[in-house]
Amino acid sequence: MAIVFNESQRIFYLHTKSTSYIFGFLNNNLVHIYWGEKLLEIPDVKVCVPYCKRPQSAYNDPENIDIQPDNLPLEFPLYGNTDLRGPMFHAMYEDGSTISDFKYVSHKILSGKSKLSGLPATYGDENEVQTLEIEFFDEKTNVKAILSYSVFYNKNAITRHARYLNCSDKNVVIQKALSANVDFFGNEFEIVSLCGSVLREREIQRLPVPFGETVFDSKRGASGHQRNPFIALVDKNTTEDTGRVYGFSLVYSGNFVMGAEKDSHGTIRVSLGINPFDFSWKLEEGEEFVTPEAVLVYSGDGIGGMSRIYHRLYRENLCRGKYKKIPRPIVLNTWETMHFDFDEDKLIKLAQNGKELGAELLVLDDGWFGKRDDDTSSLGDWTPHPGKLPDGLSGLAEKIKAVGLKFGLWVEPEMISENSKLYSDHPDWCIHVPGRPRSRGRHQLILDYSNREICDYIISVISDILENADISYIKWDMNRNMTEAGSAFLPPDRQRETAHRYMLGLYYVLETLTSKFPDVLFEGCAAGGGRFDGGILHYCPQIWTSDNSDAHDRLEIQYGTSIVYPSCTMAAHVSKSLNVNTRRITPVKTRCDVAMMGQFGLELDIGTTPDDELACISESIKKYKEIRDIIHNGDMYRIKSPFDSNLAVWQFISQDKNKVIVFAVNKLFKINGPFINIRLCDLDGDCIYTDKERGLTYSGNALMNLGLYLKDNSDFESRVFLFEKETKKQ
Ligand code: DGJ
Repeated sequence: MAIVFNESQRIFYLHTKSTSYIFGFLNNNLVHIYWGEKLLEIPDVKVCVPYCKRPQSAYNDPENIDIQPDNLPLEFPLYGNTDLRGPMFHAMYEDGSTISDFKYVSHKILSGKSKLSGLPATYGDENEVQTLEIEFFDEKTNVKAILSYSVFYNKNAITRHARYLNCSDKNVVIQKALSANVDFFGNEFEIVSLCGSVLREREIQRLPVPFGETVFDSKRGASGHQRNPFIALVDKNTTEDTGRVYGFSLVYSGNFVMGAEKDSHGTIRVSLGINPFDFSWKLEEGEEFVTPEAVLVYSGDGIGGMSRIYHRLYRENLCRGKYKKIPRPIVLNTWETMHFDFDEDKLIKLAQNGKELGAELLVLDDGWFGKRDDDTSSLGDWTPHPGKLPDGLSGLAEKIKAVGLKFGLWVEPEMISENSKLYSDHPDWCIHVPGRPRSRGRHQLILDYSNREICDYIISVISDILENADISYIKWDMNRNMTEAGSAFLPPDRQRETAHRYMLGLYYVLETLTSKFPDVLFEGCAAGGGRFDGGILHYCPQIWTSDNSDAHDRLEIQYGTSIVYPSCTMAAHVSKSLNVNTRRITPVKTRCDVAMMGQFGLELDIGTTPDDELACISESIKKYKEIRDIIHNGDMYRIKSPFDSNLAVWQFISQDKNKVIVFAVNKLFKINGPFINIRLCDLDGDCIYTDKERGLTYSGNALMNLGLYLKDNSDFESRVFLFEKETKKQ
């Protein structure tokens, strides 16, 4: 059984195949007891958690003055029960007070897992997942709280979220409602986060957890390029392959907070959820507020072990739809190829060239609608540009189909240009604070998705497009962050709901469109990888990883992204050299190999690409078609980090473990540098593995222990090894 409640101990045990998460009651306090390697039983709560009288700490039970919540590891910390660290929930009630006192009422253990109303979340059937719901009630305020834990037994993952139901006839104003909280005591941890910028997304940062609060958050109305909704706590000696790792990932695409608060006893409180900054939510009688989902993963096998758990879960229990497992088309995208400068003839020529190379789908990126010849106009006017597409989208789609490619389209439906018909018809349809200037980003404003009428309008516009042309793929872009987060449609006391209502609106639009058009592959994008999170992955099984397509920089961007997100979610394209952003020249083979580590695509003008490069791209496409299932559905091992060395090495192994592919890419060549040996992972030591291309055979043991010696000859040099396992043993 995954979930067990021990009545006599009053302890909840949440077991996965290899881990346990344990919490229980110390008198009335729900305390966190343990999370880590599987542990079937523990002695009495009192001997497992630290509780002792500390000077200056208050207590709320005069019979037990040594039970001081401020010093306990709490599972559901609240403001008002003498714990003075950050609470998981904070609200203002009709009498002006902000104290909550939720008392345990009951719990139930259910098979399967319910959807989170209006929010993206992991899913699984009754054989895969079991759910614990614990109900609490505050008798003074008449508010009910439900903590929900779902255990994916075989996947070694636990998800959490909370719900708050106003059972009173008075309003409650929620000021903070986080998704999960875990208090770790007795550990000296370091914290791993993914930080970066536009064109430099998700660099890995690792720092000791200091006393005080360490916060990684977003206040941008999107999860953002700058920080990802993920952190992990690791022991000082944890490596990629060994040691304890506690991962926290939030399935949410808006303003988030991921915090680690270390108190004077060294207890580290990790909490995550919607950012309470500029947030509040008025809960009227009978209404419920649901928090986004937090995904908690423990691994004793280092950071790589944690990543593989997230990869499997997100691949199989978060991403959805037709393209979840099957090979996705190799796209040829027009953006870096022609930007705004195209017409039908150029597109058809490009498609023909792409077809010859082996591409499978042409994506018409920005510039196809309204009067859009640069980025200053037309967002909102989603009708074909008459000068560029005389036969409209359906005419173009047919012509592309006749060439033998599928047709895909870029849209940016969350935005509005002031220079558009939509804006002149509806100047109040953008996010803004009435009476204040409206800041532009990339000359554009954001449509107010907190308003359902606007969401429905967008659904009808995009539906029309998809119903009237043969479109197999949509690239859903979003190119600016939210600044004046206000809505013309919300009353003053709900203005601070705008950013979260916007996300609920976006999820509603995406849910409706992806359900209505199940054959269309949706790819997420936000000025590159500005919204690379579990929320978007629930609707779009792949995301444009970064606008930086430079092969050298992509090593770090894709490596950092892979800490949480599987390779199949990372769109990766071969672009031209000199790179448009970095002005760097890299060999075409390297550009191809780096793109092969994700969802391979092309984004260059084939007509002006030299023949030798085209030959290499064509070969790479052939190879990719052979191996894409391994990249898509296999397990990934990071063998060498481009953040720590001059070399990046990744290994993918197919689900049946019969095929292994290794990518090794240099950054800068080091003259007379150290010799390099890489050791592979997860092979059968007794079996023979053949590298047909080089005509070599190795035992699994040799590959895992002796390893492969890599000759290092030049900057950005890339090598790919494909091994096939022989059925016979050594
Ligand atoms: C930003 C995206 O990341 C690019 O790939 C491209 O689609 C542009 N927007 C188009 O404006």
